[in-house]
Amino acid sequence: MAAAMASKLMHAVQYDSYGGGASGLKHAEVPVPTPKKGDILLKLEAASLNPVDWKIQKGMFRPLLPRKFPHIPVTDVAGEVVEVGQGVQKFKPGDKVVAFLTHTNGGGLAEFAAASESLTVARPPEVSAADGAGLPVAGLTAHQALTQAAGVKLDGSGQQKNILITAASGGVGQYAVQLAKLGNTHVTATCSARNIEFVKSLGADEVLDYKTPEGAALNSPSGRKYDAVVHCATGIPWSTFEPNLSANGKVIDLTPSPSAFATFALKKLTFSKKQLVPLFMSAKSENLDYLVKLVKEGKLKTVIDSKHPLSKAEDGWAKSIDGHATGKIIVEP
Ligand SMILES: NC(=O)c1ccc[n+]([C@@H]2O[C@H](COP(=O)([O-])OP(=O)(O)OC[C@H]3O[C@@H](n4cnc5c(N)ncnc54)[C@H](OP(=O)(O)O)[C@@H]3O)[C@@H](O)[C@H]2O)c1
Repeated sequence: MAAAMASKLMHAVQYDSYGGGASGLKHAEVPVPTPKKGDILLKLEAASLNPVDWKIQKGMFRPLLPRKFPHIPVTDVAGEVVEVGQGVQKFKPGDKVVAFLTHTNGGGLAEFAAASESLTVARPPEVSAADGAGLPVAGLTAHQALTQAAGVKLDGSGQQKNILITAASGGVGQYAVQLAKLGNTHVTATCSARNIEFVKSLGADEVLDYKTPEGAALNSPSGRKYDAVVHCATGIPWSTFEPNLSANGKVIDLTPSPSAFATFALKKLTFSKKQLVPLFMSAKSENLDYLVKLVKEGKLKTVIDSKHPLSKAEDGWAKSIDGHATGKIIVEP
């Protein structure tokens, strides 16, 4: 089996230099990866895009990422195990799974990908490939922001907290609203006018249109102060958040700019009770497994913006760069 797969070619979408956006993506026939020790080989059924995928292509993490050219981007996948590397214990051929391929490796825009056993979880039949593939980066980031940084308990125990979620219609935001409402929270969310009803349907208690003056000021319509902000949007200064925070309120910034880092340091150094917390997702398989189970139980859903065949992956890529997706952008081989 191993030898048979290794000699096979697959369709993949890759880029061979920084920049170029959607037109920098090239279609190619490349060898199917061979799973190394601790890896499993997946026949992919769906992948989801995240802004970090095109930010890596742009060179925002150079020289660390990508590790080398050509690079097959995308980390969030669902598929079927076709082969296992040495030492793999949890999975066997035929198993359906969801995996995070890591930003260093990528590999999701292809027919097959090698995933680490340690960042792969089982996918029950109730969870479709597209719904599962939406989860890794966006779901784990929303989960980490709420549970770790904001201290929300998703079993509903714990003190009531007021949470603001910016860009609630995006990939991270849609999961953040749904997860926050599993906890004991009041959720205020921001989005544009066309998405207000949609964001309410996810469970948000009140919604602000970010294009109006009140929305831009982030004032809660019910007069609440926020204990935590899951900040999925960009470009909002600390001075806008500060008056809307409760005494110990925190802004959890998913896209910290240089000035956000300066605010973070200043608030720390001055022992401010109001804090800005830059967050970087650290993938944990037990949390991914928890999210897959929530989808299975019908407590969490993946809202899908659009699906694109692998042969037109560049259309999904352009949509992500454009920044106006409602939910997750899916690519299907
Ligand atoms: N730190 C980490 O580990 C980590 C992990 C995941 C994501 N991120 C970052 O978090 C950000 C969000 O990621 P994502 O996957 O959710 O992105 P996304 O899906 O591309 O977000 C698009 C959504 O954002 C909305 N939006 C844009 N500007 C807005 C604003 N000022 N106010 C309210 N809504 C706004 C858009 O609504 P309209 O179309 O209506 O404008 C659209 O629905 C990105 O910068 C990403 O790189 C960081």
